[in-house]
Amino acid sequence: MISVGIESTSHTFGIGICEGKKIIANQRDVYVPDLGWGIKPEEARKHHESVMDAVLEKALQEAGISIDDAGIISFAAGPGLPPCLKTGTKFTRKIMGKRPAIAVNHPVAHIEIGRLLCKCSDPIVLYVSGGNTQVIGYSSGRYRVFGETQDMAIGNARDVLARYMGLGYPGGPEIDKLASKGSKYVQLPYTVKGMDVSFTGILSDAKRKLASHANEDVAFSFAETTFAMLTEITERALSHAEKNEVLLTGGVAASPRLQEMLKIMCDERGAECHVCPGEYSSDNGAMIAWAGLLAYRGGQKPVKKPDYIARWRTDEVKIIWRKKKRKKT
Ligand code: FE2
Repeated sequence: MISVGIESTSHTFGIGICEGKKIIANQRDVYVPDLGWGIKPEEARKHHESVMDAVLEKALQEAGISIDDAGIISFAAGPGLPPCLKTGTKFTRKIMGKRPAIAVNHPVAHIEIGRLLCKCSDPIVLYVSGGNTQVIGYSSGRYRVFGETQDMAIGNARDVLARYMGLGYPGGPEIDKLASKGSKYVQLPYTVKGMDVSFTGILSDAKRKLASHANEDVAFSFAETTFAMLTEITERALSHAEKNEVLLTGGVAASPRLQEMLKIMCDERGAECHVCPGEYSSDNGAMIAWAGLLAYRGGQKPVKKPDYIARWRTDEVKIIWRKKKRKKT
């Protein structure tokens, strides 16, 4: 069966298409804010509306199919920015026809595409992006959030610091480049609270330290501190949940130093470390198509009037497709 997936939760408007486990198209167009600004939701909405028809057309061309060949339409129903989510639900209504429409939770889709492509079965997931920072693991029919940020997401914190330093957007890769040139560790707060993390205090202190320290040293210290925090809570989740695989995904998964720290931690514990391939770890439509297909096959009810849930939490979704079959007695 062919599933067409629509991603529009934040800066990316993406259409992905899968036929069973095979991804046959993955097209996107990403909104880039004006220099010096973060995402403006209304601007992102306008962007999505201006590109969505063309992105679908490109995806259908890449897959070599027509929209009539699609069996289901999967759409990212949340969480995300309401104006952006609205474009996705509107677009779903426009193209679904009489086909089933399946609401997909965005973080769950990140997890499922990572499990598929990295061939890992039951990982602790570190999902790090501009809008999300969560440590997630499967238990009793749900993806449980073991730890998360108490304030801003790591990707957002990196973007804000980069902007403050006058670097371009997205700021994360710029921070990484600068950090690789730094060597002197500047003391910053290390804020792990149980299984949760917090970034606002570190960000404020890093901004302050720029007055008295070199930019590259502050970038280096910021990356070392925040990544060590994320590695620590991932390790604790691995240990508590007694799992032996880690899956790193989300836009910040591209950071080489974060990958390295997680790999060292996993090696020391005898666990496997998987990094979702870049095209599929940042927001994309293919992950929505695949997660929608899993949910549909698992028996999730299609929705008649696609709508969004802006604060849809990862652990609210019943993961019916991972249910273990009970042996008949
Ligand atoms: Fe995402």
